[in-house]
Amino acid sequence: MSRLRMTVNGRPVDLDVPESRYLSEVLRKDLQLTGTKIGCNEAECGICTVLVDGTPVVSCVYPAFKANGTQVETIENLSQDGELHALQQAFLDHGAVQCGICTPGVIMTAKALIEEKKAAGEVLTEEHIAVALKDTFCRCTGYQSISRAILLASGQDVPPLIPVSQPASHSIGKPMPNLQARDKITGEARFTDDYRFAGMLYARTKRANIPHARILSIDTSAARDLAGVHAVLTHEDIPGRNLHGVFITDWPVLCADKVRYAGDAIAIVAADSEEVAAAALDLIAVDYEKLPIVSDAIDAAKPDSPLVHEDRAEGNLLKHIKVIKGDIAAGFAEADTIIDQTYRTPATEHMFLEPECSIGVPAGYSPENFGGICDAAAARGETARHDKTTVYVGSQIPYGDRDQVAATLGLEPESVRIVATLMGGGFGGKEDITGQIHAALLAEKTQRPVKMLYSRQESLLVHPKRHATVIRIRTGATRDGKLTAVEATLYGDGGAYASLSEKVLTRASTHAAGPYDVPNVKVDCFAMYTNNAPSGAFRGFGVTQSCFAVESNMDRLAEQLELDVIEIRRINALDVGSVTSTGQVLRESAGLQECIDLVEQDMRDDSFRWTWEEGNKRFAWGLAVAYKNTGLGGGAPDKASAEVEVWPDDSKGTTAEVRISSAEMGQGLPAVLAACAAEELGIKASAVNVLLGDTDFCPDGGPTTASRQTYVSGNAVRLAAADAAARLEAEPGTPVVVRHDYMAPETKPLGSGGDMHVAFSYCAQAALCEIDMDTGEVSVKKIIAAHDVGRAINPLTLQGQIEGGIVMCIGYTLTEHYIQEDGVPWTDVLARYKIPSIRHTPEISNRIVEHQTSAGPYGAKGVGELPSIPTSAAITNAIYRATGVRMRSLPVDQDELLRAMREQNTEVEMAWGDRKPIPKVALGGEQ
Ligand code: FES
Ligand code: FES
Repeated sequence: MSRLRMTVNGRPVDLDVPESRYLSEVLRKDLQLTGTKIGCNEAECGICTVLVDGTPVVSCVYPAFKANGTQVETIENLSQDGELHALQQAFLDHGAVQCGICTPGVIMTAKALIEEKKAAGEVLTEEHIAVALKDTFCRCTGYQSISRAILLASGQDVPPLIPVSQPASHSIGKPMPNLQARDKITGEARFTDDYRFAGMLYARTKRANIPHARILSIDTSAARDLAGVHAVLTHEDIPGRNLHGVFITDWPVLCADKVRYAGDAIAIVAADSEEVAAAALDLIAVDYEKLPIVSDAIDAAKPDSPLVHEDRAEGNLLKHIKVIKGDIAAGFAEADTIIDQTYRTPATEHMFLEPECSIGVPAGYSPENFGGICDAAAARGETARHDKTTVYVGSQIPYGDRDQVAATLGLEPESVRIVATLMGGGFGGKEDITGQIHAALLAEKTQRPVKMLYSRQESLLVHPKRHATVIRIRTGATRDGKLTAVEATLYGDGGAYASLSEKVLTRASTHAAGPYDVPNVKVDCFAMYTNNAPSGAFRGFGVTQSCFAVESNMDRLAEQLELDVIEIRRINALDVGSVTSTGQVLRESAGLQECIDLVEQDMRDDSFRWTWEEGNKRFAWGLAVAYKNTGLGGGAPDKASAEVEVWPDDSKGTTAEVRISSAEMGQGLPAVLAACAAEELGIKASAVNVLLGDTDFCPDGGPTTASRQTYVSGNAVRLAAADAAARLEAEPGTPVVVRHDYMAPETKPLGSGGDMHVAFSYCAQAALCEIDMDTGEVSVKKIIAAHDVGRAINPLTLQGQIEGGIVMCIGYTLTEHYIQEDGVPWTDVLARYKIPSIRHTPEISNRIVEHQTSAGPYGAKGVGELPSIPTSAAITNAIYRATGVRMRSLPVDQDELLRAMREQNTEVEMAWGDRKPIPKVALGGEQ
């Protein structure tokens, strides 16, 4: 211990701390200034940035004693006497806050920049912002709104908000900051790791770290004997079901007989400190018999492949998904041209900047027994009511988590409570759970609160990824460009456990003919088990993968037929009256044609050229279109229940509360739900409080997946509020509580024809790319986009969803690859996974198309996933136009592109991180 003296936010600090402390630890642990967030502890993400004597530093690697005698400033210091700093106000007004985990670090960096430029008498530019923020990541916003907000705060004008086509009504169609945004810009927002409970223990998990092996023995005796250890649990200590899974329960909570991927959990430890828990892991001895591994979906289908789950009659085949429409042979017989190509897409990582964290609290916990401190800021500001096993977690599926935790604990679901805390991003990666169950097990065992916080490295190792796929696709068309047939065979790497593979790859398959009216379609998709990390939900839900193949083939087709790439899409685009690949007749709300028209209109200004050269740089435009279902569909009941309580008050005005367990990951759901309630009640949206995700207070809104929340939860809230309004009219002045159980229109399972989905959203995107002919470097300079969202309920958060989705897909195209070598992740630290920085962000021009869907709330459809779908093909189509090189694997490898240009090859099969060429795929899957 040594004496540390500094000034923090204007107050003197004088305390004894270990010399090894970093500044972030002093701020967060010793001073309880939890506004400073942690994303990696690797000096990579930048979100822990604070100011030391006015200079931004990454506090997670800044030795605390280097700050001795300095002035330290954190986000908590910015607003004074309730008045927001200009930067905070601009972030609020411009929607620059989504999940908010990055926001404190971004704002502190921006503050230093503005002050520096002001002192130098310089006018702040976008380039200055890009340089200052180049090492500070935001995974949600796509940086555009951040840049606008910083410019605004420096006193400059910024472009107006995204225009919408429908006039605003009382509350619908009006921009509104998300409800929690204010807390996120002031540092008051608390994510799970920010909570404290008296007597809390710290947990760690013993991982397999080998991808396939039989467990011969587990010896935890030395770990149990370590001072400070309170519990060490293995599979033998599980009172209930030792399996979990969102859809199929095949994933061991703690492995008993074998491990199937490197992230498998063997044992869990709770101890007085994180350090003791980590030391205990080293004392757990596990004997293994190593088994041969399979790490490739196509190899997994071979008869001699090692088996991941030996007891399955289907071997490694998790699911063969089939889509059939018309007569595929007849369709190809009609075609004048057939394009037949195979593409590959990589496993990718969500990289939500808040690593997973859960806090389990045992039934009957009383903070008084441990000194009285308890941050149980559960629903409604209650404190310390823990009459049942409770888990605090940023969850995408609160009720699903409740049921899974209860099953493992051997309890009834109602005996478990999930309190959904703020979530620092999810993108599909927080649908599967493990930490929640482990924290609850340890809490009940020790009868103390237990925090299970993953390091960035553990997060990378454990949670499911986006499916790597190999997709062979044949596209046939007549001479005039009309599609006659599409046949596709997909292999998806599902990894070691089922997770959502069947659902994700079904969506990849049903969308594998693209947003086109194709009379004959045949798709075979093989979801395979391997010894890689499990694959699961990821924004785009499989459609991102198949769209890359579909839209690459469409450009090839246009070239072969000497047709315009826009025109070939226009003549085949789904429209009202079209029939989708699964036999669904589109009766309304199909705005793809308008999206294409608007994008073309915006591209073709007076100086438009498809391609040109400047020095050693070539520039070209590429285009792609996409569609994406709203809601679960496929025959699954899609239900959301909401409660609306209204308190009429003549003097202060009527206020209301919406209660629903639907997750907010930063996408802006609370503002959407507030707008829906306000519209029906005729009150201001700011008079509506939205309480999300406490399973003891909020009815079940269902999973936050499939771009469903605006549609399903929006409808539940709309209808509950409409009912409440009617009752208030009948009995003025009387408070009312109304619950509405909304069931989306019935859908049909794949293969049965009819409506497989309640609605589809559509988009067109054009990418302007610059290719450096000397280095092969690809930069995206501009994206022009148009999205048909049905109705823009909140244009502010909608714009953020679109910009963030596009930039996420730029990463998918150019930089992101979760690399596993024989089942062992090479991508084991954030430094080995490159998400887009502000430097990758192009100018984005956005058009909103509003072809309303009759059953959606005010006509709205889902939008969360759509923007992240066509960008990759738009970019690679631009690369081809500029260079003549067709990239068939993602992410684009600039060295391979350069080599191809120099050697005059027209096809590149290898992506960055690939070790072998794209394997051959037999149509229909016969090897
Ligand atoms: S750089 Fe400090 S938490 Fe990531
Ligand atoms: S708002 Fe920036 S990471 Fe979520």
